[in-house]
Amino acid sequence: MKILVVGSGGREHAIAWKMLQSPRVQKVFVAPGNGGTATEQGLENLPIRDLSELAHWARSQQIDLTVVGPEAPLAAGIVDLFRSQGLRIFGPTQQAAQLESSKAFSKDFMVRHGIPTATHETFTQAEAAHAHVDRLGAPIVVKADGLAAGKGVVVAQTLEQAHAAIDDMLQIQPGIQASDGVARVVIEACLVGEEASFMVVTDGADVVPLATSQDHKRLLDHDQGPNTGGMGAYSPAKVVTPAIHARVMREVIYPTIEGMKKDGIPFSGFLYAGLMIGADGSIKTLEFNARLGDPETQPLMMRLRSDLFELLWAATDPKGGKLKDLQLDWDRRTALGVVMASEGYPASPVAGDVVTLAAKVSADVKVFHAGTSLSQGHWVTAGGRVLCVTALGEGVRAAQHLAYEAIQGVAFRGMQFRRDIGFRALSH
Ligand code: AMP
Ligand code: GLY
Repeated sequence: MKILVVGSGGREHAIAWKMLQSPRVQKVFVAPGNGGTATEQGLENLPIRDLSELAHWARSQQIDLTVVGPEAPLAAGIVDLFRSQGLRIFGPTQQAAQLESSKAFSKDFMVRHGIPTATHETFTQAEAAHAHVDRLGAPIVVKADGLAAGKGVVVAQTLEQAHAAIDDMLQIQPGIQASDGVARVVIEACLVGEEASFMVVTDGADVVPLATSQDHKRLLDHDQGPNTGGMGAYSPAKVVTPAIHARVMREVIYPTIEGMKKDGIPFSGFLYAGLMIGADGSIKTLEFNARLGDPETQPLMMRLRSDLFELLWAATDPKGGKLKDLQLDWDRRTALGVVMASEGYPASPVAGDVVTLAAKVSADVKVFHAGTSLSQGHWVTAGGRVLCVTALGEGVRAAQHLAYEAIQGVAFRGMQFRRDIGFRALSH
C-alpha cells in the first residue's frame, strides 16, 4: 500500500512513522513533511501544498489512503476534494470540520445535543460583548471564532484583559479567519480542574477510543508564560480514570457522533475532545478538534501496538461497519514527549539554526521532528516547535528520565524546553 500523510509537524512524523510499521505499507509520502520525514527510510517528502495539485498527484501515483494531520487542509475541504475524485482519505469533510474551525458552530452544537460544556454567548457587536463581561465579571474566557492556531483564546483574569481581548478579536486579523468573513467572539464561563485530551477514531457511526493523554500548553515550567501549541505530552492521563473514561464516551463522544449524524453532517476522522475534569468529577468539553493533537500524537504512536494502517483502512471502508468491536492494543508503559522549541517561540520563532542529534538513542526513545528542514545534508530549524523527544518507560518518572537523558544529545542555538513535562501525573 502507498500512503500519503498531509502536514509537516511532529504529529505527521509520528503518524507516518507508525504507518510504515504496518506490514502492508510499502511507502509513505509526507506533503510537505519536515527534516525528519526527509531522512527516515521508507518515508519521502513531497513538496506540494496546493490541494488540487495534491489530489492530482495522489491519483497519478495511485495512493491507496491519505491521512490528514492538521486542521487547515480539513477546514479548506481536502476530504471533499479527494473523495470527489474517488480517492480514499481519512478525515472529516469541510462541514464536519466546523466542530473545530468554528467555535460558534461547536458551542451551538454542544448546547443543541446536550453535551456538557461551559455556558457561553456569541457576539458580533463589541458593545454588547463588553456589557456582557461587565455583567459576569472575571475570570472569564474570550474566544475568537475561526481557526487561530491556538492564539484565539484568552483566559482573562481581569475585566481589563477581557475588554482588550474583545476589541482585539472583533477586528478580523491576519491569521484568524472566520469561516464566513464575519468576526465573532464567544464569551464563556471560566472552568477549573485538570485538562485531558481524549481522542477517538470514527467512521461516522462506530467509535474506537485511543489512549488518553495530557498536553502542556504553557511555555514555561509550572504552567507559566504564554500559551503555545503544546510543549509536551504524555499518555496515559491518570486523571481519566476508568469511570471517567466510560462517562466521557457516554456523555461526550457518543452524543457528538450521533448528533453530527442527526444533523446530516456525519463526522468521520480523528475526533479530539479537550476536556476539563473538575475535582468533583464533573466533565466539561472545552473544545473539539477535528484531528489528532500535537504533541499528544507522538506519545500515543509510541504506545500503540496495533496496526495504524489497518485501523484507518477499516475506518475508511466504503461499506462501513468495520470499526465495530475493534479493540486496540497499547503498550502498558507511559510514553512522554518533550517539545524542543526554537528561540523566540511562540511569538516570533527564529529559523535557520543547525540542529545536531546524538547518533544513538535508546530503543525506547524516538526523536520526532516538527519544525526542521534538511539543508545541504544537515538539519536546520524551520519553525517554532522543532523536535519532540519521546520516550517509553515504566511509569512517568522512568519515561521522564529517559526523555530528559536523550535531550542531552540534542543541540541547537537558543533551544527552549520545559523541564517538568508530566508533573501533574506525579500528583495522582
Ligand atoms: P480551546 O482552544 O478552546 O481549547 O482553548 C485553549 C485553552 O484555553 C484550553 O486548553 C484551556 O486551557 C483554556 N480554556 C479554554 N476554554 C476555557 C474555559 N471555559 N475555562 C477555562 N479555561 C479554558
Ligand atoms: N496539543 C493541542 C492541540 O493539538 O490542539
